[in-house]
Amino acid sequence: MFREDFVWGVASSSYQVEGKDPGDGSGKSVWDTFTEGDAPKTRGHNGNVSCDHIHRYKEDFALMKELGIPSYRFSVSWPKIMPEGRGKVNEKAIATYRDMIITMKENGITPYLTMFHWETPQALEDVGGWKNPEIVTWFEEYARVIAENFSDLVEYFLTINEPQCFVGLGYVTGVHAPGKQLPLKDTLLIAHNALKAHGAAVKALRKYALRPIKVGYAPTCTVAIPETESPEDIQAAKDVYFSISKDNPNWAWNVTWFSDPVLLGKYPADGLEIFKNDLPEITDEDMELISQPLDFIGQNIYNGYYIRAGIDGKPEHLPLPVGTPENSMGWPSLEECLYWGAKFAYDRYQIPIYITENGMACHDAVFLDGKVHDPNRIDFLDRYISALQRAADEGADIRGYFLWSFLDNFEWDFGYHGRFGIVYVDYKTQKRIPKDSAYWYKEIIASNGAKLYRNRKEVNEK
Ligand code: NOJ
Repeated sequence: MFREDFVWGVASSSYQVEGKDPGDGSGKSVWDTFTEGDAPKTRGHNGNVSCDHIHRYKEDFALMKELGIPSYRFSVSWPKIMPEGRGKVNEKAIATYRDMIITMKENGITPYLTMFHWETPQALEDVGGWKNPEIVTWFEEYARVIAENFSDLVEYFLTINEPQCFVGLGYVTGVHAPGKQLPLKDTLLIAHNALKAHGAAVKALRKYALRPIKVGYAPTCTVAIPETESPEDIQAAKDVYFSISKDNPNWAWNVTWFSDPVLLGKYPADGLEIFKNDLPEITDEDMELISQPLDFIGQNIYNGYYIRAGIDGKPEHLPLPVGTPENSMGWPSLEECLYWGAKFAYDRYQIPIYITENGMACHDAVFLDGKVHDPNRIDFLDRYISALQRAADEGADIRGYFLWSFLDNFEWDFGYHGRFGIVYVDYKTQKRIPKDSAYWYKEIIASNGAKLYRNRKEVNEK
């Protein structure tokens, strides 16, 4: 069973739900630029209105309360707060976010604030963005603004969400903003600067916080799942999960390059060898900065792939079994990934873990009875959370679970086609309709997981 103080929550990010308030003094992010005009890379969609959460958060938090959700992981927008990314602070944005957080708390919801969920200020991108080593100081300055303005209200902070995605998809494959495809040398530099910026932010958050706070970081990856639970298969999967492949067209899609420096204080040896001709300068001071002690890590986990130990002992990648269930975006549903992902991460890094994202995009629609029935999502969540419980039962220090997402929202290159919410959003009217899964989650939270299928007495007595 989950620990008594287990944190149950939902997650979202600013660009994906908020929408905009013209004239509020905000600056542009790379996502604003990326989605301008016909927005061919985001299926013609943008985040200009989205769920209009910026104007509707009072009712959204009231609904969250009604649904019994005690914690909310959200992000604030760097260019809304600092329109140029540095220097001037937009007091209107500070006031709005403060009111948002106060409203959350009035509804009994504990805020978990993410500083950076991919909204690089366009003004900074224009002067080199993450490639410019000065980004470390700019991000540090932003962290100071965050600490000084929000730490009286917020105790839990996360620096960067999924560095793998914003580096890999933004600058290697270019399917995300700013849509660049840069040479390896440049993207390794971007990653190194991002890690240094993370470290500088951890220090600044702590230094300028108005009271003691807790700081974490939220990387991601697809999990290597052992085909069987034989020690050989487990070892093979672990080896693959914590290695860097020469053949991956998106080198950034791995665990260790982004987590080992932060949590172990060094880059992984295989990556150093593979990338040796393209590495930026890496100094001892850099590593010291990057590896600031953290209070916890977040893990965003959605899916995986199977690995087994081959006859020669070498790991083998297996194709997914035919008929593997999928979400509406084609991602396989493999609940074991939450068990192995949490377990492997805890084995290697020995630090408290929150699952900062997990959930399922479905083909949701309003049924004739006016409700949104999403049995596939309920089954998915039950399986995944149960798998997580197994990892916790076996000793991994799992502190919480944030379901992605509360509301349906802007799913990046999928536009509004990926509906991840447990609350349906009618984008024409902005009406919110809690899906069946929202009521199911309410019961799971209220019972601290006891109502999961695997914990039910009648199931266990069968
Ligand atoms: C990862 C990201 O952090 C979030 O922004 C995205 O919507 C979900 N996973 C689902 O793809």
